[in-house]
Amino acid sequence: MRLTVIGTGYVGTVHAACMADLGHQVLGIDVDEDRIASLSAGRPPVHENGLGELLARNTASGRLRFTTSLAAGAAFADVHFVCVGTPQRPDGGAADLRHVDAVVEGLLPHLRAGALIVGKSTVPVGTAARLGRRVDEASPGCEVAWNPEFLREGSAVHDTLRPERLVVGSDSRRADAILREVYQPMLRAGVPYFRTDPATAELVKVAANSFLATKISFINAMSEVCEAAGADVSLLARAIGADSRIGSLFLEPGLGFGGSCFPKDIRAFAARAEEIGAAEAVLFLHEVDRINTRQRRRTVDRARRLLGGSFTGRRVGVLGAAFKPGSDDVRDSPALTVASAIHAEGAAVRVHDPEALDNARAARPGLTYAPDVPKACEGADLVLHLTSWPDYRRLNPRHLASVVRHPLLLDARNALDTAAWRAGGWTVHALGRTGTEAVS
Ligand code: UDX
Repeated sequence: MRLTVIGTGYVGTVHAACMADLGHQVLGIDVDEDRIASLSAGRPPVHENGLGELLARNTASGRLRFTTSLAAGAAFADVHFVCVGTPQRPDGGAADLRHVDAVVEGLLPHLRAGALIVGKSTVPVGTAARLGRRVDEASPGCEVAWNPEFLREGSAVHDTLRPERLVVGSDSRRADAILREVYQPMLRAGVPYFRTDPATAELVKVAANSFLATKISFINAMSEVCEAAGADVSLLARAIGADSRIGSLFLEPGLGFGGSCFPKDIRAFAARAEEIGAAEAVLFLHEVDRINTRQRRRTVDRARRLLGGSFTGRRVGVLGAAFKPGSDDVRDSPALTVASAIHAEGAAVRVHDPEALDNARAARPGLTYAPDVPKACEGADLVLHLTSWPDYRRLNPRHLASVVRHPLLLDARNALDTAAWRAGGWTVHALGRTGTEAVS
């Protein structure tokens, strides 16, 4: 089939490359000329496992091409995936739909008869219906469907090619049949397919993200209670997660969630619920957000206490800048928020990250960065573990103890082997645990 994918950010680039790999003829479209030039040369705009290889293979075969022209896209295909960003509006939590609207308006004058516009962007419920009315009025016979994506950064290619489910919201059998054809190789492989109305499809996405964010904030709220009670949140998480109704995934206590999705999506959902008269139903999302933000503050407070009440004149080594391991993304990164707060309070902070240093430098140029862990920790009074990269679990604590001034560690991700660090000469503290002892 011939498809366009409009917006070549994270979602769009991965979707375009994966659709080409399934055998479709794909035209990727973006307003950013530099990005289109590098994509045409097979270079991915983001660090993502397997994406470079997929781009190279499919641009070389000619199945995947790129352009800046929406008109060329409209002439090329009958199915158009919209993957542009829906950022948080500066005046509040609501989503800014200007890019989605601009794409639809840009396509409308050029659409072929019967074309289908498929939204993948995360949007406030009701957007598909509104765009559907607009398309119907300007280009009768053309349609809009919604098909949210659930990809995680770091495993985006895998999540797109082998999703746990496909969700397609449309009012028309024809749109549904077209999307079943697009995804046929996946359906043959047994991927569950949920056909819904457009509003339900839009809500599946924000409800899923809200549920996951709630799970994280729940365990982080328990972490606060554990600290007050002298209990151990890591053991608590393992013990409640063993109940299959609860499950252990997304129950890792620590610094909380960041990134380009969870924080903005729960705020946009709360804002939209208010607009449609359902504000009370999702009041808990404000609390989920507050708990998450509080984890960053609690980490700073705990670090300050460990240093005797002040950061002035102290050296702090920071392990991690990315919002999560396996990604070079620093958008709304809890690690960088904490590092900046400590720096602002007078500490000399040196940040290490295996992948995200360039992005961190661009986002927070005021901080100092180190190319390796020993350099980040040289002469440190305190080491903070803020992003749980596997590399940090492989560190040699004894060796690192010899480069710091005080072997004092705060594990804000509850991910390091505390016993091994203590055996290596460190005093170890962790969020959600009061003592320096860890029992397992
Ligand atoms: C998320 C959703 O998982 C994905 O389905 C959606 O399409 C986009 O948003 P992503 O932002 O890539 O994906 O990251 P994810 O792996 O879900 O982690 C989100 C955040 O939660 C990270 O900051 C992570 O460190 C944090 N997290 C995750 C925890 O703090 N504890 C956990 O137990 C799990």
